[in-house]
Amino acid sequence: MTQNFLQWVEIDQKAFSHNMRQFRRLAGKKSLLLAMVKANAYGHGMIPIARLAIETGADWLGVHSLEEGICLRRESLTCPILVSGYVPLNRLEEAVEGGLRLTVYNRESVRKLKSICRRLGKSVRLHLKVETGTYRQGIPLRNVFSFADEIRKGKGLILEGISSHFANIEDTTDHSYARYQKKNFQEVIDELEAGGFDIPIKHMSCTAAAILFPETYFNMIRTGIGIYGLWPSKETYLSCLLQKRRPLSLKPVLTWKARIAQIKKVPSGSLIGYGCTYKTTRKTTLAVVPVGYYDGYSRRLSNQSYVLVKGIRAPLRGRVAMDFIVIDVTDIPGVKQEDEVVLIGRNGEEAVTADFLASLEGTINYEIVTRINPGIPRIIV
Ligand SMILES: Cc1ncc(COP(=O)(O)O)c(C=O)c1O
Repeated sequence: MTQNFLQWVEIDQKAFSHNMRQFRRLAGKKSLLLAMVKANAYGHGMIPIARLAIETGADWLGVHSLEEGICLRRESLTCPILVSGYVPLNRLEEAVEGGLRLTVYNRESVRKLKSICRRLGKSVRLHLKVETGTYRQGIPLRNVFSFADEIRKGKGLILEGISSHFANIEDTTDHSYARYQKKNFQEVIDELEAGGFDIPIKHMSCTAAAILFPETYFNMIRTGIGIYGLWPSKETYLSCLLQKRRPLSLKPVLTWKARIAQIKKVPSGSLIGYGCTYKTTRKTTLAVVPVGYYDGYSRRLSNQSYVLVKGIRAPLRGRVAMDFIVIDVTDIPGVKQEDEVVLIGRNGEEAVTADFLASLEGTINYEIVTRINPGIPRIIV
């Protein structure tokens, strides 16, 4: 089937299940496991991953947008779905109709939801997002109680959850800021409980927190990058060792492949690609691969990265163009048109990891996998 594609992304079902099992084990019986499938499941393909996640132990799915939530519902995913991002006021009704859980931190949104629920005779489950120190979405600590009270008084509004998000748990081995945020979260929960609130689901743990700090689980963990087999950062791995914990064995789930469009032999001194940034220093066999920055293969990798052909490294020559890269296959015997190229993933003894590409580009593995163009077919293997 892949013969029909110029490029495609293979999803290793076994690796995904393996990773899910580990997070399921961490969550245990006391905590729900929410699988973050936003951003096209971190580039892995939202629908197939959502199904696999539910089959392999996820209790909830997490998305960023209303559109993602609706898309899951259209695919008959009936499990609890939490929208973690902002939903425009004039689209809140669709969220209620779709039975999506909403993250809330604006009174306007809550009031609009109240009138929608009254009009439709329906209810909506809400999760308060508390500002504990990330300064992204969130209700300032001093306002949480009155915000919760407004929800409590609103017919049709169900205060199901309270959440927060860590700012730098992945970036350091010094977790004092994370502890400060956790303390803020705990204090607000204590204040609410003292005021008679009994909010069933409390959550603030992402992958790094799930790996490093069981005390942040409360009763749900929201794991993203880890279920795709990638570590949130080197610091998370190191923190794990410093805490004398055995690191999880995470298996990367995604392999990105393409097919060679043309092979050509060029003389020494040939200038390759836009800007003529590479000049061959020997007689060279080049392969043209129909992948470019439109597909999510960054132009910053120009003349820097390599791909794998027959398990051997083939360096990029010249700039990454919108739809093409050019690789040097002089030292790889027998390469021909339509042979497979691995852009990310394992091939024989070699691997190109998302972490490696991230280090070349000065970014993080999250960005490398998430930006793979959603139009590229995802195939479960
Ligand atoms: C609100 C929220 N929760 C959980 C996650 C999952 O984080 P991670 O991929 O590090 O597990 C994210 C990711 O950005 C997020 O924004």
